[in-house]
Amino acid sequence: MNSIEVDIKAIKFPLHFKGKIIKGFGRGSKELGIPTANLPIEDYEEQLREIPVGVYYGFANVEGLNNDKVYPMAMSIGWNPFYKNTKKTIEVHLIEKFDRDFYGKELKAIALGYIRPMCTFNSLDELIKAIQKDIEISKESLQTQSEYQTNSFFTV
Ligand SMILES: Cc1cc2nc3c(=O)[nH]c(=O)nc-3n(C[C@H](O)[C@H](O)[C@H](O)COP(=O)(O)O)c2cc1C
Repeated sequence: MNSIEVDIKAIKFPLHFKGKIIKGFGRGSKELGIPTANLPIEDYEEQLREIPVGVYYGFANVEGLNNDKVYPMAMSIGWNPFYKNTKKTIEVHLIEKFDRDFYGKELKAIALGYIRPMCTFNSLDELIKAIQKDIEISKESLQTQSEYQTNSFFTV
């Protein structure tokens, strides 16, 4: 099965992620205007073998940020084919505007649904539009799953 023919029903949601935020390439904020918090892939090798690369939605919080407030998020897992990364990344975009980085802080995320496979695009503009659409889909989908926003995973 390739990444296009994903068996979404086989993904065992919710998926839990927890780790210290590391530096990515810094393109999210600068080139895309869509900052992401990157997690170390090494902690998730086993879990990632069982789930398809692609774009997911859910909730996430960052230690110490607005009293550990839980935000809606859109998340990418994969090789960022537009940039031809050689290493898989896990990246979480908190759906809220922030004017600083969170490197070194602990991030917790619960992924609740799959949106689409990772794709490449003909232009940066198309990539940005696709991610903005993901953000809209995430916001809409999360309205019916808001109970996860108060999940104890975020507070323990
Ligand atoms: C919701 C979401 C969807 C994404 N979809 C794609 C995609 O389809 N193709 C791709 O190459 N990168 C995708 N990305 C990853 C971006 O390319 C990546 O966040 C950007 O290159 C910044 O990476 P950096 O933090 O390493 O600088 C997505 C990121 C997010 C948050």
